[in-house]
Amino acid sequence: PGGPTTVRFDEQPFVATTASMAAVLGQIERAARSTVPVLIEGETGTGKELVACAIHQRGPRHDAPFLVQNCAAISESLLESELFGHLRGAFTGADRDRRGLFEEAGDGTVFLDEIAETPLPVQAKLLRVLQHEEVKALGADRVRRVRARIIAATNRPLELEATGGRFRLDLFYRLAVFPIRVPPLRHRAADIPTLIAHFLRRFEVREGRATGGIEPEALRALQTYAWPGNVRELENEIHRLVLSVGAGERIHRRHVARRLREAEPDGIEEPLERILDRVELALIRDRLQRQPTKSAAARSLGITREALYAKMRRLGMATREE
Ligand SMILES: Nc1ncnc2c1ncn2[C@@H]1O[C@H](COP(=O)(O)OP(=O)(O)O)[C@@H](O)[C@H]1O
Ligand SMILES: [Mg+2]
Repeated sequence: PGGPTTVRFDEQPFVATTASMAAVLGQIERAARSTVPVLIEGETGTGKELVACAIHQRGPRHDAPFLVQNCAAISESLLESELFGHLRGAFTGADRDRRGLFEEAGDGTVFLDEIAETPLPVQAKLLRVLQHEEVKALGADRVRRVRARIIAATNRPLELEATGGRFRLDLFYRLAVFPIRVPPLRHRAADIPTLIAHFLRRFEVREGRATGGIEPEALRALQTYAWPGNVRELENEIHRLVLSVGAGERIHRRHVARRLREAEPDGIEEPLERILDRVELALIRDRLQRQPTKSAAARSLGITREALYAKMRRLGMATREE
């Protein structure tokens, strides 16, 4: 009990040292036991796709395909054709029938990445998949049954998109039956050493060159940085370090990319008060997002509404009296 945890999902190790990631692991296990839709929310690079894949691999249908579709940066008609298929002649250039991902996946999983970017007409068709388990290919006049499980991911709070009218509310409710929130890396600094060890091993093997390990002050620099690109950014930095230090050489602070070192708040001397402020700010933001009202957020934190307002003012958060 306690200590670094790395759970192996098939070939993909999943690092979860902190309590917040242990909770995500627990949600993965629970989601894997059913086939309800899952909505994974988290900033870019936090591991959403890894979570989706883990749910699929831990589930009873892990032998069926896990298929990924990014719903952003693709035209509406192409996305529609990718997901639902098309018949020959459905549009110029459609020279043969093509099955969509939902049919291809069979009993498997369709992972819809960046779901918030889905054009509204395609959202309507997704709703039909969720409500009636059927798809209609482009150019087809009959529907086909599909059974694939849907896991969606978003780096924007989908509920806000929905209440703001940019995403169908009914589709949001269907997708969000089992929500999982993957916390940003800066909220789980204790995962960083475990992730570094994991990526060091991986890239040392892949590049066929071992470093001499990492110096504490280099580790400290990596733990202090805010990682806006989250685990993916950390992964890239470790890859770069493995390639840039000599064989057997220890990784020193000076090896760490300057951009990361210089972003450190006050070097390695961030005052306790400021650390606590950062923690408080993140926590309050989180509760305000999860709770329906400020009063509910205050209650969930065990403080009065007035005390919450006072904290928000001190931390420079806007307080619109409601
Ligand atoms: N908890 C974790 N343990 C190990 N590797 C991780 C973890 N979280 C993320 N990664 C790795 O970080 C990279 C980014 O993760 P990804 O799932 O693509 O993020 P997202 O889909 O949220 O942008 C991938 O290479 C992934 O394998
Ligand atoms: Mg991704």
